Amino acid sequence: MPISPLMSLSNKDTDYTQPIKLYDDVHHQIYWVGIYTGGEEIECNSYLIVNGGEGFLLEPGGYDRFSPILDKVNQVSSAEAITHLFFSHQDPDVCASLPSWLEFNPNLNVVVSHLWVRFLPHYMAYNVNYMPMRDDGLVIDLHQEGEIQCLAAPYLHSPGSMVVFDSASGFLFTGDIGASLYRDAKPRLVIDDWNAHVVAMKGFHQRYMSSNQAVTGFLEKLKDLEIKAILPQHGAIFRGEEIERYIDWIGHLPVGVDYLYAAER
Ligand SMILES: [Fe+2]
Ligand SMILES: [Fe+2]
Repeated sequence: MPISPLMSLSNKDTDYTQPIKLYDDVHHQIYWVGIYTGGEEIECNSYLIVNGGEGFLLEPGGYDRFSPILDKVNQVSSAEAITHLFFSHQDPDVCASLPSWLEFNPNLNVVVSHLWVRFLPHYMAYNVNYMPMRDDGLVIDLHQEGEIQCLAAPYLHSPGSMVVFDSASGFLFTGDIGASLYRDAKPRLVIDDWNAHVVAMKGFHQRYMSSNQAVTGFLEKLKDLEIKAILPQHGAIFRGEEIERYIDWIGHLPVGVDYLYAAER
């Protein structure tokens, strides 16, 4: 019987220096393997799916994240067992550790929107096993259970944004969609207070999500998914009724060109 430690997780008792187990089944586990630096740069989440011993690393992160994330992966699995890296989009906070990962294992499969396959070579000089995701998505069957579905989320914020749905857990990894930035910069893996969370999300979403049409199109794609959690690349994870609340909130928030240019009129 699968259990989801994420559902009872609290920020108070969480040790961010360790990998944090979010989902646990016999052949399928999910961990938060992010690093909080407390530095100037934006704090990021990285996630590891382990299926039958095979590893899938989502949002590998900046150049300085390679070693600490490698250590965290080795605490719960084996970094050598990682077969796929997933990049939600082309930004450096997502991709800058790619050269280190390829130096570690040149056979890694790199799953990314087809739009970025011609840009990522600017990060390094390796021959890369790309698995390009086109606008109609990409499905990766898992050996033990379920599948990983990659869905295109164009212009949220990147023209080639990709979100990843893990069918076994119902976890939806959304990249910058759902990001939150609290002013006090304290680490939060889950939401303590919805009203405070809305404040922490609003500015980022209004500036980075490109338009209300892009949001509406994306939400339409989620309709048939049984989502148990939304896991963004920055800030707290959404669980239970917070998922519907988020979908309702983002569906009504003026964003991007619809917000910025309307404000200028
Ligand atoms: Fe980004
Ligand atoms: Fe980001």
